[in-house]
Amino acid sequence: MANTILRKRSLIPGTTSELVVDAPHIAAKARPGNFVILRVCPDGERIPLTIADADPTAGTITIVYLVLGKTTAHLETLGEGDGILDLCGPLGRATDIHKLPGEVICVGGGTGIAAMHHIAKGHHKAGNYVVGVIGARSRELLLFYDELKAICPEVLVSTNDGSFGRQGLVTELLQERLKNSPLVSEVVGVGPVPMMEAVAKVTKPFGVKTTVSLNSIMVDGIGMCGACRVSVGGKTKFACVDGPEFDGQLVDYRELSQRLGAFKPQEQRSYEEFKKSHVCKCTHS
Ligand SMILES: Cc1cc2nc3c(=O)[nH]c(=O)nc-3n(C[C@H](O)[C@H](O)[C@H](O)COP(=O)(O)OP(=O)(O)OC[C@H]3O[C@@H](n4cnc5c(N)ncnc54)[C@H](O)[C@@H]3O)c2cc1C
Ligand code: FES
Repeated sequence: MANTILRKRSLIPGTTSELVVDAPHIAAKARPGNFVILRVCPDGERIPLTIADADPTAGTITIVYLVLGKTTAHLETLGEGDGILDLCGPLGRATDIHKLPGEVICVGGGTGIAAMHHIAKGHHKAGNYVVGVIGARSRELLLFYDELKAICPEVLVSTNDGSFGRQGLVTELLQERLKNSPLVSEVVGVGPVPMMEAVAKVTKPFGVKTTVSLNSIMVDGIGMCGACRVSVGGKTKFACVDGPEFDGQLVDYRELSQRLGAFKPQEQRSYEEFKKSHVCKCTHS
């Protein structure tokens, strides 16, 4: 069956999983920075998820998701052998990757680390010296450390509770690295909006090119609906077709955060209803 889940791995039990999905047409064209839009059931919403990896030979793509609400919770109920109803992609502009002097620092936080991994891998394949900077609240919530170690000569880690790496925030590690490195050509930041904003704030005095990957609400993913509208350098952009990557110094993060929270009451209600119906099904089976 198309879009079959071939492998499922729980990365953080109950909250974050990785799926390797049979999707040869997407895998053949997927580039770092691309994403897919999927639907789990016929009356379900469309949600975007980053392509965390792609294997054109095996015809598979890897997606990693954090269970946040109804659709990601529904996705989490699927297992190996199940099919994803529809999977559309690759979408979005691919990351601009070419050989750069000095180093490229790829910063990731939370689930954003998985998305950043594909970009870091692309820079590594282009021959760039990639420094991974990743952070989480604690060691057990840190994703893709081994995967990044395989491609980055250096992976710097911070945890809020100090259980692994340096205690503190990724931005502190980034600032230190920028102070001590003779040449940094680009900083890429992928993670929660406040983290990407903080990354841009840290890089600003250094004048380093800073790229962030925006996670605005998306519906069609092809530039028709306007749901993903963001302001970048005072201009309106559609994150699905003009991005999702933009110059981190130019993004209106306040507007992005506001728009991301626009449907919170409806999302909460829908999640509560899903949880009730799911519990109901389990108790009757
Ligand atoms: C280009 C892009 C790539 C992304 N990649 C990943 C990824 O690799 N892994 C991951 O875990 N998450 C990723 N996200 C975020 C993911 O799409 C949302 O977490 C998901 O849609 C939540 O849906 P839900 O029904 O589970 O939760 P809901 O309760 O519906 O929503 C929770 C929050 O998620 C956001 N959200 C809801 N619907 C959408 C939507 N249609 N589009 C975008 N955001 C939405 C809103 O901020 C909302 O408040 C990405 C978003 C974008 C735009
Ligand atoms: S998601 Fe509809 S225009 Fe971008």
